[in-house]
Amino acid sequence: MKPEILIINGPNLNLVGRREPSIYGDRSLDEYLDTLAASTPEATINRMQSNHEGDIIDMLHEWGFDKSIKGIVLNAGAYTHTSLAIADAIAAIEVPVVEVHISNVASREPIRHHSMITPVCRGVIAGFGLDSYRLAVEAILKF
Ligand code: DQA
Repeated sequence: MKPEILIINGPNLNLVGRREPSIYGDRSLDEYLDTLAASTPEATINRMQSNHEGDIIDMLHEWGFDKSIKGIVLNAGAYTHTSLAIADAIAAIEVPVVEVHISNVASREPIRHHSMITPVCRGVIAGFGLDSYRLAVEAILKF
């Protein structure tokens, strides 16, 4: 069986490609992730997006005890900076989570410097544009 990876994208990430292109680029995230999945034949890459905090928690609960999932890539968007509930969900599950950001959050406004979820994630990849996702997938495949 091929290893499976789940990519969860949070609020406003459905708009990448149209949203603030000077920060997030002008390429659609869906198109990028299609290409990533096609160029990673050694794994099955599943993905989901929601603009709702509770949906993200439900996804973590649903997939986070599944032994066939090697890791979860999570870009929690702005919930990164606010959500104790998502942090608790990551702490509760068994599948390791890699925190991902398209932008280098540490170089942006001070409100983005703190992540609620970093302490409960396996690691963080930020600032490499959409390639942050590829780097996270590569990290998970080495777990
Ligand atoms: C983001 C950074 C967050 O601060 C922001 O709220 C996002 C996207 C990123 O991928 O760079 O929505 O997670």
